Amino acid sequence: MKKIRLYGNWKMNMTRAETTAFMSEFARSAKPLEAVMGRNLEVAVFPPFTSLWAANEAMRSVSGPMPLLGAQNVYIGDHGAFTGEVSIPMLKECGCTHVIIGHSERRHILGEGEPLIAKKMRACFDAGLIPVLCYGETLEEREAGRAFQVMERQLRSAVEPLSADESAQVVYAYEPVWAIGTGKSATSAEAQEVCAWSKRLLAEAAGRDIGTTVLYGGSVKGSNAKELLSMDAIDGALVGGASLKAESFLEIYTAYAGS
Ligand code: 13P
Repeated sequence: MKKIRLYGNWKMNMTRAETTAFMSEFARSAKPLEAVMGRNLEVAVFPPFTSLWAANEAMRSVSGPMPLLGAQNVYIGDHGAFTGEVSIPMLKECGCTHVIIGHSERRHILGEGEPLIAKKMRACFDAGLIPVLCYGETLEEREAGRAFQVMERQLRSAVEPLSADESAQVVYAYEPVWAIGTGKSATSAEAQEVCAWSKRLLAEAAGRDIGTTVLYGGSVKGSNAKELLSMDAIDGALVGGASLKAESFLEIYTAYAGS
C-alpha cells in the first residue's frame, strides 16, 4: 500500500485551548494507527500562528501518536521591519517542520503573487523547512479552458529557484479553488488527471524524473476519501474543514486503508 500524507490546514480556526484539546483527542483516536504512522501514513497539522506553541507543548506532554507540525504561511528573512509577518526561525522554534506556501486564500484574498511565492520557496530550503506548495485554478479559469495554463505558470514560477533535488522534496497540493470549502470535491478522475499532469510537468522542469509527492485538497472527507486516495497519482490529502476534529480527520485515512 502506498504511503499517504494526511495534512490538516486549520486556516483561521482553533484557539490555544481548542488546539490542546485536539492534540489529546488525536493521541487517543490515532492509537489504532500507531503502527502505520511514520511508515504508511504521515500526518501533519497546520494551526494558526497563535496556536503553534500550544501544539508544540502538547506534542511534548501528551503520550501517544502525534502529528507533525507546520504553519500556514511564512515570510522571507530571519527578522526585521516586516509588521505582521513571522519568520522561518520563529516557526522552527515552535517545532514546525513544514509550511504551506501559496494557498489559494492567500493568493486570491490576500493578494499574494507568484514572485513572492517563489522567494518563499527558496527561503524554505535555505532555512530547512519543507514547503507544501498549493496551486489550482478558479472556476472561471476552468470554464474558460485555462486551468492547465494557470497551473503551469503557478508551478513553474514556484520551482524556478529550486534545484531538482529541492523540487523533489516539496509536497505539492492541487487545490481547485472551486472545491475548497464548498462541499463539492473534484471527481477522482479530475483530480487524478491534474495530479498526473503535474508530476509530468515537474519532472520535465527538473530535467529528470523526481518522484514528486502531490496531494489533493478541496472538500476531502471520510465519504469521498477512498475514491480520491485510491487514484495512483494522488499521494494524500490537504484537508480543511474535516481536519478540525481528530476523529473526522483520521477517518479520511481509515476510509481509504480500512481500520
Ligand atoms: P476544505 O477541505 O475545507 O475544502 O479546505 C481545503 C483546503 O483549502 C485545504 O488547504
